[in-house]
Amino acid sequence: MTAAPDPHKGPDLALGVSIAAFPASGLLEGHVGGEKVLVARSGGEYFAVTANCSHYGAPLADGLVVGDTVRCPWHHACFSVRNGRALRAPAFDALACWTVECRDGEVFVTGKKSTAAQRGPDRPHPAGAQPSRILIIGGGAAGFAAAEALRRGGYQGKLLMISQDAAAPVDRPNLSKDYLAGTAPEEWMPLKSADWYHERGIELRLGATVVNVDPRARRIALSDGNSPSYDRLLLATGAEPIRLAIPGADQSNVHTLRSLEDCRGIIANLQSARRVAVIGASFIGLEVAAALRARNLEVHVIAPEKRPLERVFGAELGDFIRRLHEEHGVVFHLANAVTAIEGKRVRLKDGPDLEADLVVAGIGVRPRTELAEKAGLRVDHGICVSECLETSVPGIYAAGDIARWPDRRSGQQRRVEHWVVAERQGQTAARNMLGAGERYEDVPFFWSQHYDVPINYVGHAEAWDELAIEGDIASRDCMLRYKRGGRLLAAASIHRDVQNLQAEIAMERDLAPAEAGHAIAPDRADGRTGAT
Ligand SMILES: Cc1cc2nc3c(=O)[nH]c(=O)nc-3n(C[C@H](O)[C@H](O)[C@H](O)COP(=O)(O)OP(=O)(O)OC[C@H]3O[C@@H](n4cnc5c(N)ncnc54)[C@H](O)[C@@H]3O)c2cc1C
Ligand code: FES
Repeated sequence: MTAAPDPHKGPDLALGVSIAAFPASGLLEGHVGGEKVLVARSGGEYFAVTANCSHYGAPLADGLVVGDTVRCPWHHACFSVRNGRALRAPAFDALACWTVECRDGEVFVTGKKSTAAQRGPDRPHPAGAQPSRILIIGGGAAGFAAAEALRRGGYQGKLLMISQDAAAPVDRPNLSKDYLAGTAPEEWMPLKSADWYHERGIELRLGATVVNVDPRARRIALSDGNSPSYDRLLLATGAEPIRLAIPGADQSNVHTLRSLEDCRGIIANLQSARRVAVIGASFIGLEVAAALRARNLEVHVIAPEKRPLERVFGAELGDFIRRLHEEHGVVFHLANAVTAIEGKRVRLKDGPDLEADLVVAGIGVRPRTELAEKAGLRVDHGICVSECLETSVPGIYAAGDIARWPDRRSGQQRRVEHWVVAERQGQTAARNMLGAGERYEDVPFFWSQHYDVPINYVGHAEAWDELAIEGDIASRDCMLRYKRGGRLLAAASIHRDVQNLQAEIAMERDLAPAEAGHAIAPDRADGRTGAT
């Protein structure tokens, strides 16, 4: 997961590098005193920061400089090159900084700076009275990012995070990748240690279920009878896997995958397994298939569509993904369905039955909006929020998989199921709970991993009239641009990270519909795309 450090890559920056020979990208990786360091040119200035991203360790020299920030090539985190701070998820930890001197046409990296300058809030919360008690329901991507942003921004009131999960917030995307494949050690999974929450005064209640929200009394009710109060509330309850509605779906060898507990349950059941049936050829289904092939299990994927992921990526990339999985030994049963599971016998609509020791269903998720509905919040295919992520009840915010927000770029209401979107919404909601009044308008981004092939997707396209393919999909070096009426809606790429970042910048600058004063229209009924 983390790139292996190679302290000797590139020049010794303490000895100086020629400004005339500086790379056109404005980014140069080298080393100083045995540490890997990145020099970034922003305008006419040079800055030096840690060379690897604090998320999964991507080499930032392969990213993009935008103003005085650098964007990570792998999952689009954004750091200030001036002070190293992580400005946008999925990275949270700051990069170290070095002093830089320019003389005689050369750039020299000298001493490492103290981290003291990074300790203050990077975007201080607005002045004025702060709510004394903030409550977050959900210990996933959005809930964690909100708590982190509140404390990093200097919020000093009481902060309580309640999660039904038995574990503190974990790296959920990894559950269908390295962790399930058995190649990620346990210590990679928690987003932060127990000490981290303790040091920041974030009270974490795990394995706790919220059963009611009372907006009048500003209290919630827990299933254990407790009823803590709040001044601001963030709903970040995510989504839950849709269960199979067929005979045998409740058998102990039939699984879904959302939590660390779910994943551990699957792994425990694999001990004596030889063959697995995966129902669904979506992101989760296919990533599970890849992870289980890494464990040398026989994997069959059964799904109703003719081509995996065609609705999201189009036919060309869908065909490539199918071939990729077949090359790794996955057997597809497409345009098919499972009608029943009887012990180890998996009955198919078309064709002979399959014998499978284990079944994993990845047939989509449903946003967990029941608390909001009961509390009388406006819910319509997700919890309806304003551009600032506030629900129809003042003081209650929603973020992540449950939130349906007015997207200025498309003029549509949007709800997506992406890790980075959930985290960034959590960050924005946190600031807004303290009165920042900040609009959420990041371009959606997600990634998916199939064996050694990463796919990065930025933007959002439910329908397009033009699909421009650059490069060669089969060679795993391509950029696909999804457009409607000539306007770029989204881009997917394999091993073209800078182009993917450039597409993100282009879409960030393209806020045409709302700027033109168009009203935001309701989305189609199913606003879901993306990662499930
Ligand atoms: C296996 C897997 C792999 C994924 N891979 C990717 C990927 O590669 N890329 C990508 O972009 N996205 C991926 N996703 C999607 C991504 O994880 C989600 O979009 C993201 O987690 C949504 O964050 P969230 O905070 O909205 O919800 P979650 O992370 O699901 O968190 C919801 C939290 O709310 C809690 N909760 C719910 N109801 C209650 C209640 N009543 N009381 C108390 N607590 C409650 C839950 O216990 C949980 O802690 C993946 C998802 C899964 C399951
Ligand atoms: S490695 Fe940089 S954002 Fe993931």
